[in-house]
Amino acid sequence: MSSDAVQIIEPLSGPLSGTATVPGDKSISHRAVLFSAMAEGTSQLSGVLDSQDVRSSMSAVAQLGAKVNLSVQSDGSLAGTVEGWGAAGPAQPSAPIDCGNSGTTVRLLMGILAPWPITVTLDGDSSLRRRPMRRITAPLMKMGAKFAPAGQELLPITETGTPALRAITYDAPMASAQLKTAVLLAGVFAEGTTTVNEPAPSRNHTELMLPEFGVATTAATRTASVTGPSALEASTVHVPGDPSSAAFLAAAALLKPGSSICIKNVSLNPARIGFLRTLERMGANVEERHEGQEGKEPNGSITVSYTPHLRGCEIPAQHIASLIDEIPVLALVAAHAHGVTVFKEVGELRVKETDRLAAIIEGLGLLGVDAWEEGNNLLIEGNPQLEVPEGLVFDSHGDHRLAMTWALAGLCGNQPVGVRDFGAVAVSYPRFLEDIERLER
Ligand code: S3P
Repeated sequence: MSSDAVQIIEPLSGPLSGTATVPGDKSISHRAVLFSAMAEGTSQLSGVLDSQDVRSSMSAVAQLGAKVNLSVQSDGSLAGTVEGWGAAGPAQPSAPIDCGNSGTTVRLLMGILAPWPITVTLDGDSSLRRRPMRRITAPLMKMGAKFAPAGQELLPITETGTPALRAITYDAPMASAQLKTAVLLAGVFAEGTTTVNEPAPSRNHTELMLPEFGVATTAATRTASVTGPSALEASTVHVPGDPSSAAFLAAAALLKPGSSICIKNVSLNPARIGFLRTLERMGANVEERHEGQEGKEPNGSITVSYTPHLRGCEIPAQHIASLIDEIPVLALVAAHAHGVTVFKEVGELRVKETDRLAAIIEGLGLLGVDAWEEGNNLLIEGNPQLEVPEGLVFDSHGDHRLAMTWALAGLCGNQPVGVRDFGAVAVSYPRFLEDIERLER
């Protein structure tokens, strides 16, 4: 839900220091909840992100008959059990399922519902109603699922599944883990091998987590397969910290003079930490330390210190998926760097929670930074002497990652800034401000 309220963000009073943890990874939390709902038996989950998006997945599967028993722990995470529908399948819900702001919820659900003979209407908030769905419904229609209106791009869409799903090999038109996951989840129940080939590698949490639920996957760079018919069995998942949330703390430490922080227990899945590779190329003082695994997900810590001389760099198209959600905050870092930063082939930004390409250019423009698009590339000419003009008000456009990005401009700058609809942070990182302020010396 978007609001017109403007939150004033004051500059930090001093450098950031000490250690931080970030809430559970959003992508992994969604999958832990959704896969547990599909499974036979009762799964044990911990470290689950408590945010609006994950709650959309929790209430969706509850409407479909899973028994969700997750409660808030002292560290703010969710833990407990989910009893899945297993072989009985999801129950016919009596009302449409509202997926709120969550693209991951609705798109993964489309794959999850495909093998079952029930009819479900999927809907979302005004942002989700503007996002493209045909990229998901098209391959699922090839597998045999029905959508009404057929071939419609925008929610609300009504899906009717079928137990007679066909396995397919699908060449995805874009690198999207949501698309890949939807097809693979349907493929679990189809006869034969379902394969998704991608133009560039997208995050691989599904391929890593399905085997933990007893479903074998095969995966290589830019391709993943599952062979059905198979079924999920209950499992135990501990969700590591979210690198996409860590990126905001890391950027704060980079930009605030004198800062040095260590962020612990973060997922260091290579498909998610493209922002660290980019920051290194910009000359940033960042270091990651691999410390272990949660299931098959590598995790560890990230140390970041203030870096006065950042330089612009070019981020090739092949690497974009590994930092897609971090482009807003990387754009703010690039605005402080010497030289031009080029993000290649970032057209997908136009169909995120809002048109992030336009919103980044708009927000950096308010800061007096030259940012522009050329085709599907985003270019930013940084200014190491950047000063925040007085009285700035940014618009988050109801987008959680833009709300946090523009808040950082105020936190790390010389003037307070206003952020319209700052409350959008509740989608992925409700305690963002508290976590930053806790690191203030
Ligand atoms: C996600 C995949 C990405 C990402 C989104 C979460 C996921 O979207 O931007 O925040 O959990 O699979 P696309 O699949 O549309 O690229």
